[in-house]
Amino acid sequence: MRTPYIFVLCSIALVGAQDLGVPLSWRKFSNSRPLSERITIAQNAIDAVMPQLNSGTGEFNGIGYWQSGNVWSVLANQDRLAGSTTNQAAVVANLNKVFSLHANYDPFQWWATAAVYAHRAYGDANLLSHAVATWNHVTSFVVTPAQASAGKSPQKSFTLRGNCDGVTMAGGVFWTLSYVRSLGSSIGLTTDRLSRLSAYLAETTGDSKYTSAAIQSANWIKAHNLNANRIVLDTVNANDCSRSPADWLFTYNSGKFIEGLSVLADVTGDAQWTTLMINTLQPAVKSPPWQGSDGIITEGASPNANNDGVGFKAIFIRALHEAFERNADNNDLRILIHSYIDVQYNALLDLAANGSTYSSNWHGPSQAFTTWGQLAALDVHTSAINAN
Ligand SMILES: *[C@@H]1O[C@H](CO)[C@@H](O)[C@H](O)[C@H]1NC(C)=O
Repeated sequence: MRTPYIFVLCSIALVGAQDLGVPLSWRKFSNSRPLSERITIAQNAIDAVMPQLNSGTGEFNGIGYWQSGNVWSVLANQDRLAGSTTNQAAVVANLNKVFSLHANYDPFQWWATAAVYAHRAYGDANLLSHAVATWNHVTSFVVTPAQASAGKSPQKSFTLRGNCDGVTMAGGVFWTLSYVRSLGSSIGLTTDRLSRLSAYLAETTGDSKYTSAAIQSANWIKAHNLNANRIVLDTVNANDCSRSPADWLFTYNSGKFIEGLSVLADVTGDAQWTTLMINTLQPAVKSPPWQGSDGIITEGASPNANNDGVGFKAIFIRALHEAFERNADNNDLRILIHSYIDVQYNALLDLAANGSTYSSNWHGPSQAFTTWGQLAALDVHTSAINAN
């Protein structure tokens, strides 16, 4: 007599929960390579990009400034996950160099997050100070509750819509490049980055001002910047509340939000952020925008030329890996992330590899080395060290 009763309870419990099952149509969602081999594959991929380093600028030939920051992120994470110090000297020297060359010029916070990862890997306090300096700079571009009420931002000459769809715009972050300082009305693109950076700084320093900032920006994204399928949108126009085009869906926007929420959940112990993270992650790995039924990411497949989109999927995979590490108690979630990362890993190794170099088209074919193709692959290889 009890069985039907229990069955009914279980059915009710499942309503509203996310389906974290691995789609069986995904191509090769596991692998049996031993840990030492995974570490070697990842470090070899890193070694293949290092000849492109411009020692004068700390950037890499063939990719842009923001993309170069992401190369340093992987190197630091590689050492942390492999338990090595192979990349430490290069990471520390080059991050210090770039921050000395470009004080207050890290509008998108890629270098600041690289500094956070490097601080986490190596414990170098100077690296943390770079991230804090960037945070202080970017914070002046956040819409405060008072600015939202007044309909004015000191950064912008136009009238600010203090509410969109009846919800305050406080917590949104304007683009911080000087050329859009007075004109650009886009808000949002940097909000998920600031939320993520704030969450990391909250965790590292214990200072609640960072926690408050992370929560404010996370709430802004939740209210304003998710589509009906819970994919993170690009931007909102703060002058008229219009959204970026519905097909402007990029892996890294969901990724930065997933990563920030994973950290924020740990910092606050508040389960609402874990729930929101899972609700964002599930459609990001299972919905069509950037992968077909085989699960292989198609975004940023660009064999012949670099573009911003090539760098996005690396950030997405890194974010999924962070969620994997921080949710040890959620086995279904971890199996889903592990499987998704292995799909990309196996695609790179089976379809897109030429020795230790990789095409940005993860369906292949392989080709001669490109810096952007290599950049895109690095986070997959490093994440696969322990997402297995
Ligand atoms: C592999 O890379 C080498 C050197 O970059 C290049 O000459 C060769 O054409 C590539 N081969 C394939 C099959 O992509």
